[in-house]
Amino acid sequence: MEQIETKIENGDCLEILKKYPDNFFNLIVTSPPYADSRSKTYGGIKPNEYVDWFLPRANQFLRVLKSDGTFVLNIKEKAVNGERHTYVLELILALRKQGWLWTEEFVWHKKNCFPGKWPNRFRDAWERCLQFNKSGNFKMYQEEVMVPMGDWAKTRLKNLSRTDKTRDESKVNSGFGKNVSNWLDRKMAYPTNVLHFATECYNKNHSAVFPKALPAWFINLFTKEHDWVLDPFSGSGTTSEVSQQMNRNSVGVEILPEYCALARKRTTHYQLRLCENKAEYETNTSREDSDVCRATCPGVSQKSHRKTEEAQIEGGSQA
Ligand SMILES: C[S@@+](CC[C@H](N)C(=O)[O-])C[C@H]1O[C@@H](n2cnc3c(N)ncnc32)[C@H](O)[C@@H]1O
Repeated sequence: MEQIETKIENGDCLEILKKYPDNFFNLIVTSPPYADSRSKTYGGIKPNEYVDWFLPRANQFLRVLKSDGTFVLNIKEKAVNGERHTYVLELILALRKQGWLWTEEFVWHKKNCFPGKWPNRFRDAWERCLQFNKSGNFKMYQEEVMVPMGDWAKTRLKNLSRTDKTRDESKVNSGFGKNVSNWLDRKMAYPTNVLHFATECYNKNHSAVFPKALPAWFINLFTKEHDWVLDPFSGSGTTSEVSQQMNRNSVGVEILPEYCALARKRTTHYQLRLCENKAEYETNTSREDSDVCRATCPGVSQKSHRKTEEAQIEGGSQA
């Protein structure tokens, strides 16, 4: 069996990535430091300076990503002086000028966001996952993220109207139409671009981990086993751990040595871990659960990941 490589590199991704060749990675999935966030723990770039800070790093991402690869950027604009800052929007425009195609925007709905109240807005329950590509001809394995038809099939498809049984042309002449009866006998459907994942609280040693289900979903969608995954702002190493468990090679780059140590701890001993047949990406899993190894246990790899994700991408079917 071909060995999987997992590299955790300590340093600024701007410099570290210069060691890597052009067109190397199949997928970049990352959550960078958000503007001004957590300045006491890891920096905090001023919102007005965010685009200038990000662009040289994105230039490296553009170089090291394969021409049919994908870059997924998990980010959220903060509110400044009572309004949403526009740095994410400015970043999207600047990345397009740099040569990226802004192919899609996924919404990560945080099922268990913090309770709270502000005088002029409600609590944040979603973040953007922006998809960028170098060309329209990128690799995408849609069948890997299909979800069960679920209740929608039982209710919506039970009493089909006449229009449902023929092609229902768009009322606004957009050219888009649907024939709902096409979905009658199907058990699985494609998901929507809204992903419902709970944040995970098990990792007390990093203040901004994303749930393992988030990189796992994109790794399933955009890579095959033995492909290379990069997380240039790897923090506690969530992307690296998940990549390893899904039999993907990976590089994680992290500027703070203590987070590198954490990431290495999460990824070093995986060959020795016990193989247990239980769901990996359930919400709020305990630390012990995340030590379950899938990659070394052939029967428990992709399918069991998907099974749990299906449950999480609830209500996500489309005709
Ligand atoms: C939002 S956190 C990522 C958390 C990660 N997704 C996880 O699950 O643990 C962003 C990380 O980027 C790191 N960072 C900030 N600037 C960096 C840079 N220039 N190069 C590499 N890492 C950087 C921070 O130290 C922080 O750990």
